[in-house]
Amino acid sequence: MTDSPNDPSVDSAVDKSTVMAVPASVSEQVANASDDNFALRPEYKPKSIRSYVIRAGRMTQGQKKAFLSYWPKYGASLFDGEFDLIERFGREAPTVLEIGFGMGASLLTMAEQEPEKDFIGIEVHPPGVGHLINEAGAKHITNLKVYMADAIDVLDDCILDGSLDRLQLYFPDPWHKKKHNKRRILQPEFAQTVLKKLKVGGVFHLATDWEHYADQMMEVMSAAPGYDNKAGEYHYSARPDYRPITKFEMRGERLGHGVWDLLFERQN
Ligand SMILES: C[S@@+](CC[C@H](N)C(=O)[O-])C[C@H]1O[C@@H](n2cnc3c(N)ncnc32)[C@H](O)[C@@H]1O
Repeated sequence: MTDSPNDPSVDSAVDKSTVMAVPASVSEQVANASDDNFALRPEYKPKSIRSYVIRAGRMTQGQKKAFLSYWPKYGASLFDGEFDLIERFGREAPTVLEIGFGMGASLLTMAEQEPEKDFIGIEVHPPGVGHLINEAGAKHITNLKVYMADAIDVLDDCILDGSLDRLQLYFPDPWHKKKHNKRRILQPEFAQTVLKKLKVGGVFHLATDWEHYADQMMEVMSAAPGYDNKAGEYHYSARPDYRPITKFEMRGERLGHGVWDLLFERQN
């Protein structure tokens, strides 16, 4: 979970000042960083509406070191274009992509628990990326690659059509206020982009703890051509065993908050 998962708008001052210029690649930024100036930015292409804010999140020494030690092993760049799964993972295996992994706890657990699959994570928050590659490096994980970039751009420019077995969108920023709802990542166009990237029979798995967003997810996904709701029309799914319960979710459960999972399969 990120610093302020439920109100991304709090960092809007940082956000506005950093929207315009296209950043250098993460590798170049890491090469030019120094211990007292280690301010990394995610890779993205300029756009008018974004689903995230660019935060001035401080990185720990461990996270900084992780970029120096492990970015070459785990990092992938938006600016390198098409991601060759076989070349990058050195094998052909079912592929799972997660958008907005936060600090990466559940993605790391899944990569460990499902070694027969390959995982690609995409996140814009540098401390979260640093945290994940630090843990993955320490555990010698080999079935994981990470983009520190806007997932919309990565899907458009890097991920081949029909290549994913599962795409995970867990607890996306809810953008509570009505005037911010347009910044929610799940929109009809996004559902069609995901559909194209899935294999036939591949699954788009969404989860949220925000009821209004769950309603919108159900509405958008039920109306999206090409998908089949695995739980039956307008039904939410039980949490599949492969999705670990996060600390944040456990706290929510204790407080009596709900969580909604949606599993939509690509039909043809
Ligand atoms: C509310 S947090 C949830 C994090 C994590 N999935 C969890 O359950 O703990 C949503 C995350 O999505 C990331 N995010 C939002 N839009 C994104 C985008 N277009 N590309 C990549 N990451 C994005 C944010 O930086 C944030 O870390």
